[in-house]
Amino acid sequence: MSGDITSLNQNVWDCDPDLFELIQKEKKRQLHGLEMIASENFTSLPVLQCLSSCLHNKYSEGLPGQRYYGGNEYIDEIEILCQKRALEAFRLDPAEWGVNVQPYSGSPANLAVYTAVVEPHGRIMGLDLPDGGHLSHGFMTATKKISASSIFFESMPYKVDPNTGLINYDSLAETAKLFKPKLIIAGISCYSRCLDYERFRKIAAENGAYLFSDMAHISGLVAAGVIPSPFEYSDIVSTTTHKTLRGPRGGVIFFRKGVRSVNKAGEKVMYDLESKINQAVFPGLQGGPHNNTIAGIATAFLQAKTPEFRNYQEQVVANARQLCVGLQKYGYKVVTGGTDVHLLLVDLRSAGITGARAEKILEEISIACNKNTVPGDKSALNPSGIRLGTPALTTRGFKEKDIDEVVDFIHRGLQLSKEVTKISGPKLVDFKRVLKEDDTIIQKVNELREEVEAFSRTFPLPGYPDY
Ligand SMILES: Cc1ncc(COP(=O)(O)O)c(C=O)c1O
Repeated sequence: MSGDITSLNQNVWDCDPDLFELIQKEKKRQLHGLEMIASENFTSLPVLQCLSSCLHNKYSEGLPGQRYYGGNEYIDEIEILCQKRALEAFRLDPAEWGVNVQPYSGSPANLAVYTAVVEPHGRIMGLDLPDGGHLSHGFMTATKKISASSIFFESMPYKVDPNTGLINYDSLAETAKLFKPKLIIAGISCYSRCLDYERFRKIAAENGAYLFSDMAHISGLVAAGVIPSPFEYSDIVSTTTHKTLRGPRGGVIFFRKGVRSVNKAGEKVMYDLESKINQAVFPGLQGGPHNNTIAGIATAFLQAKTPEFRNYQEQVVANARQLCVGLQKYGYKVVTGGTDVHLLLVDLRSAGITGARAEKILEEISIACNKNTVPGDKSALNPSGIRLGTPALTTRGFKEKDIDEVVDFIHRGLQLSKEVTKISGPKLVDFKRVLKEDDTIIQKVNELREEVEAFSRTFPLPGYPDY
């Protein structure tokens, strides 16, 4: 008698309506709002189909051809396909570069890189978090080591120039000479200019350090060839796969193979990154790879080679520039004076608005963004800016003329926050209270939110129609 698995084959909307209702609410929020968080995107239907496929069921610790479990014939093929497409997406020669597609996400990928090539308490340097770096680049405060990358390794930050907002490469070169890091990280979470990888390489070489580029934010732009690539100058490159790249949540590490340098005796010194990085990912830090994600990454890399993807990435940058110019016309200050990429940082000090208030009022009118420190901020807890990105809106088909509308909505929201502050005074709790209790403000917020949502709803979202 065959088994009865009917109960396992119910749709989630039938067997768990409470949960499904929440999923649908989130879908509605995504459709009705303007998603401007620079690290977010809307992935495609084929990626979502991979994520919810049977590949999820399989354990496959190890690498293709060297698994600790049986039954991996097709899983091996999928991972090999993903690796091949990863190299192709960035036009890399397999003789010079290898890739590991198993990291669960960006932070685990970065920790695997440090684990592989930096000994415990070895030294790393990354852009400071308040200056646009990422937590996983060694972040710590004066009183606390926050990220594992500062707990298990000794980190020294480099900074942006507080006047220009640009990375101070001279100061990095000076500090690196003193600190002698084993690895220098070139990577950003909030920086609107292209990085000078050649300069990074020079500084790394002067100190015998690895140059590790974390291109998580910009990898889609790099794959499309719309901004300079870090590969020419880097030893190791990591990326998340869910930001501009528009794949599933995951991480990938690229590592150099072949000759690293020639020593004084004229002998070739070879890279030994491949086995170190592979072993740091598994068994060092992870167990079984998420095969459904690896398939999603493979299909995202296939998309990344298409002309449509290139057009998309060009539009992402064009939209970010339009956003910049529009906000500048209203008198807002954009850090570094513009953008070359998919994001920009607005310094709200001269507008008399704090980052937290701006984030809050924009959230109230269904525009999602995040508060962010700006160069020269005294307190990381009370940042003076907001970070805005265009990848998600551009996926929905936004063009420059639509961005002009978005600029108007943002400006009206920020003006409204000034009105609220006049009533609330300086404290954020009072600001939030007025937003909840003042009838005139509530009405104004509701009216503006309805306008934003009516506008947003006219743009499509990829994925399943209602969840
Ligand atoms: C530059 C950079 N690296 C790494 C990460 C970490 O990625 P995840 O959130 O997937 O761990 C991020 C996330 O925002 C990032 O911006």
